[in-house]
Amino acid sequence: MGRIIIFTGKGGVGKTSTAAAHAVKAANEGVKTLIVSTDMAHNLSDLFMKEIKEEPIEIFNNLYALEIDSNHEMERYYGNISDAFKNMLSFKNEEDKEVLEDIVVFPGIEELFSLLKIKELYDEGIYDLIIVDCAPTGETLSLLKFPELFSWYMEKLFPLEKIALKVLRPISKIAFKLEMPDEKAMNDVEKLYFKLGTLQNLLKNREVCSIRLVTIPEKMVVEETKRSYMYLNLYNFNVDGLYINRIIPEEVDNGFFDKWKQIQKNYLDEIYSVFWNIPIYKIKWYEVDINGTKGLERIVDDSLKDNNLFKVLKTTINEIFERTEKGYRLDVFVPFSDKKDFDLFESGTDIIVKIGNFKRNIPVPNVIRRYSIVSAKLNNELLSIYFE
Ligand SMILES: Nc1ncnc2c1ncn2[C@@H]1O[C@H](COP(=O)(O)OP(=O)(O)O)[C@@H](O)[C@H]1O
Ligand SMILES: [Mg+2]
Repeated sequence: MGRIIIFTGKGGVGKTSTAAAHAVKAANEGVKTLIVSTDMAHNLSDLFMKEIKEEPIEIFNNLYALEIDSNHEMERYYGNISDAFKNMLSFKNEEDKEVLEDIVVFPGIEELFSLLKIKELYDEGIYDLIIVDCAPTGETLSLLKFPELFSWYMEKLFPLEKIALKVLRPISKIAFKLEMPDEKAMNDVEKLYFKLGTLQNLLKNREVCSIRLVTIPEKMVVEETKRSYMYLNLYNFNVDGLYINRIIPEEVDNGFFDKWKQIQKNYLDEIYSVFWNIPIYKIKWYEVDINGTKGLERIVDDSLKDNNLFKVLKTTINEIFERTEKGYRLDVFVPFSDKKDFDLFESGTDIIVKIGNFKRNIPVPNVIRRYSIVSAKLNNELLSIYFE
């Protein structure tokens, strides 16, 4: 089984450098590695000083790189898909038509096709490790929640029952095997829907995929990192590592930086105390920018010695249904969240949890559908929803 590690964080904090350092380490250790950038502002080419395109090219032995062009990917799939949508439209009433048009021009829909490309590469099984250098967190979040959201819309609009039952409904068991329905019997919309379902399962498969956050010890960035961690958990992704970049080295002895060192120390303390339960790595601020394999190897030597680095470093269970005396309880892990930002409602067969601007639809398993929500509690970092 291959492994996918996704790096994300605020713009400019060092995502590309950190991701690429991992890729270099892995390749040097004989692991066949692909580093993929999904950030439209690609910079793997600059970093490795090599022209990198939409198909993987070899950087050196065991290391391959690819900059995904999501528009190119979208055209590959979307040609048929938009036709399929149009055909289906002719069966729909006016109201559905409007919603459908919303989907077809969904902002960010191209990004979805970057993910599908990653899944395709994973399925080909050529690489042992796929490292994803993602866009800044905000975009990553919308990217990662997209497969679920999009499937959700499709399900509302199209008669997808036969595969919906197989793909989406049993979710919330962490990883489950999907059987491919007879492909010839599916139309293009169903095929896309099915692909999205398997994509979701891949991204949420704790044995394969995990997300790592890159941050720096500065107020705004630390705050954003906490928020991203919360949302990633809300969307049920496994976050198994945190990298603190640009730490001023101890040996720097200069009045100006003394103050900064103190400031950084305070944020480092905060990061260690709030992220106490995930592995943390520190990367120092180098005297020059990070360039080429040599530059990346410095990061590897100084900060990425851990022999288990490419393993899943931690597994979180983010949502779990438990039987209670009178019914069921759903626990959702939502670290750093605040009671006042929460909203919770039921919609059809879903529970919708809203925190600030983010919304997650959690499908309710069949057995629980005949119960209704009677109460909800936020306790520490756990949201408990009671069904009776
Ligand atoms: N620890 C560091 N020391 C020195 N320069 C760094 C360090 N981390 C990143 N950089 C430089 O900062 C810039 C942004 O880093 P990059 O990894 O591209 O960030 P991101 O992908 O998050 O935008 C690059 O020029 C990179 O070489
Ligand atoms: Mg980058």
